[in-house]
Amino acid sequence: MGTEAQGGQKTAGANKVAPATGKLGVMVVGLGAVATTFIAGVEAVRRGLAKPIGSLTQMGTIRLGKRTDNTSPLIKDFAPLADLNDLVFTGWDIFEDNVYESAAHAQVLDKDLVEQLKPYLETIKPMPAVFDQYYVKRLHGTHVKKGKNKRDLADQVVADIRAFKKTVDRVVMIWCASTEIFIKPTAVHQSIEAFEKGLENDDIAISPSQIYAYAALSEGVPFANGAPNLTVDTPAMVELSKKNAAPICGKDFKTGQTMMKTVLAPAFKARMLGVSGWFSTNILGNRDGEVLDDPESFKTKEESKLGSLDYIFQPDLYPTLYKDLYHKIRINYYPPRGDQKEAWDNIDIFGWLGYPMQIKVNFLCRDSILAAPIALDLVLFMDLAKRTPSLRSIGIQEWLSFYLKSPQSAPGLYPEHDLFIQSMKLKNTLRHIMGADLITHLGLEYYD
Ligand SMILES: NC(=O)c1ccc[n+]([C@@H]2O[C@H](COP(=O)([O-])OP(=O)(O)OC[C@H]3O[C@@H](n4cnc5c(N)ncnc54)[C@H](O)[C@@H]3O)[C@@H](O)[C@H]2O)c1
Repeated sequence: MGTEAQGGQKTAGANKVAPATGKLGVMVVGLGAVATTFIAGVEAVRRGLAKPIGSLTQMGTIRLGKRTDNTSPLIKDFAPLADLNDLVFTGWDIFEDNVYESAAHAQVLDKDLVEQLKPYLETIKPMPAVFDQYYVKRLHGTHVKKGKNKRDLADQVVADIRAFKKTVDRVVMIWCASTEIFIKPTAVHQSIEAFEKGLENDDIAISPSQIYAYAALSEGVPFANGAPNLTVDTPAMVELSKKNAAPICGKDFKTGQTMMKTVLAPAFKARMLGVSGWFSTNILGNRDGEVLDDPESFKTKEESKLGSLDYIFQPDLYPTLYKDLYHKIRINYYPPRGDQKEAWDNIDIFGWLGYPMQIKVNFLCRDSILAAPIALDLVLFMDLAKRTPSLRSIGIQEWLSFYLKSPQSAPGLYPEHDLFIQSMKLKNTLRHIMGADLITHLGLEYYD
């Protein structure tokens, strides 16, 4: 008989994960609202001024063994994660503002807190960015790199990475920059060789985010993507990630409305309740909202937000319940709200004998407050993946789907969107790499 704690499935030994010694360098692309809330937040926590609420790596526990064992250490005590005191930040932006100025501009954190952190935050100054307005129509950047072609720009990012590597022990890169226009994969994305030719030829399907990602992966640096851009979601980047043991994961931080969606939809499906319509609308007034006001950037976000329901509901398997679902998403730029986004969902469901019902969700959230802990966890877990022999060379870290609106998975494998399955997958991956028993939730042994 199987046990709730499945000893038979353990494979890796604890000694195999390299320890998190020394400094972890965090290279952040885009020092806007999310990035500055993340960096300032880490500093506030380091100084004991605030708590890292929303961060699984800092606050979460992991159960080991049977429920009767009462063993639930903190995740950060169980797996060798980098300590917050060992994080060193740098980054790029198309504006010259340092992190203090950018945090003040974003107006996410209280002025008092930002002022207290000023001496530290103003030491982080952006390096000139790789940018082209063709890919983000609403921004006009001046602090940008110049190069003879895209290959030259990639080489300049590689030089930035190498210089930073000399000052720290390990490096992770995370994209917290704007949403680019919608780009479909083309021939240039099918192999490393084709991509490298495309860099030489200034191929239009290669956007700045792909140039940063290419530079990171070429240098063996893990790359996480907070935006819905195509970036590493291509065969070329998967190949490069595997080749250089540089982990990648899905894209677009799963923060507010989509997080709620991937909690509610599995509940309806678990109870076999039908859904005929799901209308989601948002108002937000930060720079992200302004960028998404451009139809081409919105299209990238829309595709990312639309995916989850189709995969969770499996309409092919449950045509009676979900085949005719009408799913609509709107994002409206509304400056008075700043970062304090408001999201409404109207869900038309139906139950026994087809009788209709409605659910309304009104989430008054703070976009960057929700995104910052996700950025932190992704950075720490990507660094852990890089130090784990059984993870670093597999490319896509599907176990980090928990954090992302568009999970990435192996070719032919449908992505898992259900937040609770994702959470189980994440924790079982940690148990697995640390040589602990996996948890199956079977639990018959308690009744023997
Ligand atoms: N906050 C959330 O809840 C959330 C959720 C999911 C995804 N996101 C995504 O995270 C990203 C950041 O959001 P934000 O609110 O911080 O936006 P923001 O506009 O405040 O910050 C983005 C920053 O990136 C910079 N930038 C743009 N292109 C760049 C480039 N090529 N290189 C370097 N810097 C560049 C901009 O100048 C800006 O400072 C957006 O793409 C957004 O869609 C946010």
